[in-house]
Amino acid sequence: MSETMLTVEGADVYYGDSQILFGMSFSVQRGQVMALLGRNGAGKSTTFKAIAGLARPRNGAITISGQSVGGRAPYVIARSGIGYVPEDRQVFPDHTVQDNLLIGAKRGKDGRTQWNLDRIYEVFPLLANMKTRRAGLLSGGEQQMLTIARTLMGNPEVLLLDEPSEGLAPIIVQSIGKLIITLRELGVTILLAEQNMHFCLGVASHVTIVDRGRAVYHGTIEQLRADQDITKRYLAL
Ligand SMILES: Nc1ncnc2c1ncn2[C@@H]1O[C@H](COP(=O)(O)OP(=O)(O)O)[C@@H](O)[C@H]1O
Ligand SMILES: [Mg+2]
Repeated sequence: MSETMLTVEGADVYYGDSQILFGMSFSVQRGQVMALLGRNGAGKSTTFKAIAGLARPRNGAITISGQSVGGRAPYVIARSGIGYVPEDRQVFPDHTVQDNLLIGAKRGKDGRTQWNLDRIYEVFPLLANMKTRRAGLLSGGEQQMLTIARTLMGNPEVLLLDEPSEGLAPIIVQSIGKLIITLRELGVTILLAEQNMHFCLGVASHVTIVDRGRAVYHGTIEQLRADQDITKRYLAL
């Protein structure tokens, strides 16, 4: 039994007069880690902004747990269960790690409180060891972990991660990958934007390839692995 958590259907998004997304369409089922895979400039972040309410589609529909949210304000969309980690991964630098987490705390849909400080520290032992440290003193990778953890403190139904591995050293990318696998095992529904095919193969369950503002391929990770042509056509540099 699958439950549709998020649907983007025929979304056209413009910045001013220039069209960026052309009928973008895909859906995410509960428990999936869906990767939006595509080159730099393909439209991944714009898709995330449309879902989070920061870019309004001119046409098309966005539904969260069956409810249409197209054109709603970002805070309304957050309340309806979208936890958005943008690519610039901002922390509150002068606040401690723990305060950063508490800033993100809210009940989820239907009052759900699956995530709290104890639970976060279990899943992010690294953060447990630096509770009292000022967030501004953390490394890039630690700040990425913290923004993911802070977003989970909002008890989202779907977690949006925009290029969590970008700009991080390979060893840190590996630990972000492990974290995503852990979250996947815990049943967290994730939409992940990535340019890094290798990273996607390791963590995602499903993939949507984005090319020039369009979704050009949908499949499971196994299907993608078996389809060398697709990889060559859309992802080769
Ligand atoms: N604020 C903006 N104004 C105008 N064009 C933009 C803006 N943000 C992104 N773009 C353009 O939209 C396209 C898609 O960008 P983006 O969604 O950031 O791609 P990705 O995240 O896949 O790298 C790119 O051509 C980019 O230059
Ligand atoms: Mg981007």
